[in-house]
Amino acid sequence: MTLEARDLVAGYGDKAILDKVSFTLKDGEILAFFGHNGAGKSTTLKAVIGLIPVQEGELLLDGERIDKLPIGARLDRGIKLLPEGRGIFPDLSVKDSIDIVAQRNCTPGGSKIGRDDVYALLPNLAKLRNSVAGELSGGQQQILAFALALLGSPRCILLEEPSVGLQPDLVEELFGKIREICGRLGVSAILIEHKIASAMNIADHVMIINSGRLVFNGSKADAETINLWGYF
Ligand SMILES: Nc1ncnc2c1ncn2[C@@H]1O[C@H](COP(=O)(O)OP(=O)(O)OP(=O)(O)O)[C@@H](O)[C@H]1O
Ligand SMILES: [Mg+2]
Repeated sequence: MTLEARDLVAGYGDKAILDKVSFTLKDGEILAFFGHNGAGKSTTLKAVIGLIPVQEGELLLDGERIDKLPIGARLDRGIKLLPEGRGIFPDLSVKDSIDIVAQRNCTPGGSKIGRDDVYALLPNLAKLRNSVAGELSGGQQQILAFALALLGSPRCILLEEPSVGLQPDLVEELFGKIREICGRLGVSAILIEHKIASAMNIADHVMIINSGRLVFNGSKADAETINLWGYF
């Protein structure tokens, strides 16, 4: 899988926010995405999933242009968005949530990750099968949201601040799981985070956006040699 953005321009109405954003992401890689409030991180993910139109530039998935495709077609191709505030169904049990999303996203024999697989990958979730999603702790809800995004054949998961509201040890646990699962299953991720050090721990690449323009785009090794805060 290769997701490539070439000189993406996108924004709201006639107004452009992103100024020629380009990046490449391959199988199993995690791209940590940093920037100040209002820099354009969420806008970038919205353009990738299709919530806002791409005004200029190209978005390619394995060489196929996807920037004109509707959201549903991008979801079907394995691009998943985990929005800030968690994509869960608060009134449903964990089991019912997983069953419903599995029914929609998993084709028998043709899917990479089915309901048994998510329980095996996330054993703590299996123990919560009968709990109501809205009554789970913040960390548990975040794990459930991640599990729902994994069902089917995800190729690239867009994660928006998954650490919000989590105590530090749960952040490390969740990020450890993300790293393990992405590596093991060859799923790639773009990880928007304000917890820079935690995100750096699991990243392969780092991207920093400032007022809509990428000011750093490089390997984690390169990012470790610079003062990241100087780019904010
Ligand atoms: N729905 C919208 N309509 C118009 N302008 C918007 C909309 N959403 C965001 N913007 C503007 O786009 C710019 C980028 O916002 P964006 O949400 O992408 O920032 P961000 O990097 O995700 O910030 P944060 O870290 O605060 O989430 C900001 O100037 C913001 O005011
Ligand atoms: Mg945002």
